[in-house]
Amino acid sequence: MNNPNLENKTNIKWHESTINRQNLESLRGHKGMVLWFTGLSGSGKSTLANALNEALHSKKVSTYLLDGDNIRHGLCRDLGFSDKDREENIRRIGEVANLFMNAGIVTITAFVSPFRSDREKVRKIIGKDFIEIFCAANIDICEKRDTKGLYKKARLGEIKDFTGISSPYEIPKAPEIRVDTGSLDLNDSVRQIMKYLSEKELLDLDD
Ligand code: ADX
Repeated sequence: MNNPNLENKTNIKWHESTINRQNLESLRGHKGMVLWFTGLSGSGKSTLANALNEALHSKKVSTYLLDGDNIRHGLCRDLGFSDKDREENIRRIGEVANLFMNAGIVTITAFVSPFRSDREKVRKIIGKDFIEIFCAANIDICEKRDTKGLYKKARLGEIKDFTGISSPYEIPKAPEIRVDTGSLDLNDSVRQIMKYLSEKELLDLDD
């Protein structure tokens, strides 16, 4: 947003586009927002985010999915998994998600995003349309699943700073939605989120 300090320091000036968020939202017929998934590796974030993306797309909602592993191939390829790099990773994703939201898109993000302070900074950037979705599968279940074989490597010390093993995961204190991805079936998890979006009148999902 317009930041007078930055303007004084760098001679960079903020330009207001004549086509604004409201124009773009009314073109699409719904609000832009950010559905921010967080949880351990293997908690089902990507799977659920992808299934939700499909369900919303089939209801003609304009969506875009930003996924941790994919973004680390491009925009964040220079970052690793130190606390500082994760902070920068989440900062960039937060800014990108904000741009997508301002284009009137329902932006779905799936990142471990283990630190509360980083998630809260994104919440501040996004504002009231930030919906935090905690995939609450616990570490034992994630480790048992070990879909990518990373927990095994982390236990062997082959991967350092691995979330839940050698790097912390800070559980959200008051997420908008908590999904029990350790026990709930995928379709029920999607339904839970769709129900929330309907009930809060964030999206009109009636047939
Ligand atoms: S975050 O912590 O910065 O939010 P991000 O979601 O982008 O992480 O990437 C996590 C993905 O990278 C995991 O799903 C896993 O596949 C992989 N990964 C590789 N090394 C690590 C690690 N040390 N900790 C967590 N995930 C890792």
